[in-house]
Amino acid sequence: MKTIQAWGFNQSVPGPVLRAKQGDTMIIKVNNELDEPTVVHWHGIRLPASMDGTGEVQKPIQPGDSFIYRFEVPDAGTFWYHSHQNETQQMERGMYGALIVEDDSKIVTDAERVLMIDDMKLLKDHSFKKGSFIERWKERHDGREGDTLLINGRENYLIEMHEGQRERWRIINASSARYVRIYLGGKQFTLVGTDGGLIEAPMDITEMLLTPGERIDIIVGPFLNGELFYIESLPYNRMTFLKAKHNAFATVRVKEAKPSIASVPSLLREITPLADNNAVVTRRVKFSVGPSWRHGINFLINGDLHTNDAPVYVNELQIWEVSNTSLMDHPFHLHGFFFQVVEENGKSPKYKAWKDTYNLKPKTKIKIAWIPDNRPGRWMYHCHILEHHEAGMMAHFDVMDRLTPFSPQLPPSCAHV
Ligand code: C2O
Ligand code: CU
Repeated sequence: MKTIQAWGFNQSVPGPVLRAKQGDTMIIKVNNELDEPTVVHWHGIRLPASMDGTGEVQKPIQPGDSFIYRFEVPDAGTFWYHSHQNETQQMERGMYGALIVEDDSKIVTDAERVLMIDDMKLLKDHSFKKGSFIERWKERHDGREGDTLLINGRENYLIEMHEGQRERWRIINASSARYVRIYLGGKQFTLVGTDGGLIEAPMDITEMLLTPGERIDIIVGPFLNGELFYIESLPYNRMTFLKAKHNAFATVRVKEAKPSIASVPSLLREITPLADNNAVVTRRVKFSVGPSWRHGINFLINGDLHTNDAPVYVNELQIWEVSNTSLMDHPFHLHGFFFQVVEENGKSPKYKAWKDTYNLKPKTKIKIAWIPDNRPGRWMYHCHILEHHEAGMMAHFDVMDRLTPFSPQLPPSCAHV
């Protein structure tokens, strides 16, 4: 057991699992009892820009102040919320939680679990202090990874299942920078959902890469009484100073048999493609690194730091070519909208999915399609490695209405309550 000075929501790490049904309105009052400002971002929810919880659309909630977030949840899926202010500190210390919007699909399982993966980098005294100049330099380059490996805020997490049963696991990678290649000791599991909810048909796999920000829904089991295995992460080399390692996050133990009511339909839903490979690119977005006189290395979008991108217009199909010219991976995250990956280096993906976070491998180009639905305002995209985001690998852009010119001002609902 390690005692740490965490920061969290409602005195826990992770914060409470927020659950809703598709179409519900959520009203969440955030009281800031920290000594510094914060905002809360609802990762993956298609909400109004004014509720997106970034410093661009609301005034940060000052210590002692509160803010009420109110939004509908139009999509079913595994989402999450997290601080979007001083993230490299606030998120590292535990300011995140799951937001589950239940679907009315025909998937029936014997149990459901939400598993939030994280790691913390702690010093010997279990503090979060930053290290030497060199340490900090490496951390800026790699993103902060530590060897305190957590699931739902616990080290050596234990899951007990029953023989014969099948469970739905909703897995969220909440870590600052760690790439997790989920592996269940070689056992097969079934992918049924990603960031934006269900995929079209269940897919049997034995491993799955989950970058910071990404989510998957999987079906595991049935297993036999007495079986024991680990939730592992296979080594993934994302070209950092840190060496890729093979880790275990949790133990799964199978106990005596219990009857099962589980069933997973062979068709989960239909995903209509927004575009095909011939679609003409409407915008190019480039993730790259460059030399920095002050920091050694800069993390850039379109050659710039903390940049602005041109507006897009409501209902106009976006075909973006997002490239990564650097020699390391970056998870690309678009706020507030889902996209479809049309191709990666010229090849169509193996299955269709709605995504809000997608890994850009080194020297890679993806083509994505998305539609800005009628939610004008200020939005953003960035690398979800928190240290890269902080260093400048992000861009703002406006979603605008063709008819009424958008005037960027804070909506009245942003007044402090
Ligand atoms: Cu989960 Cu701006 O990100
Ligand atoms: Cu990055």
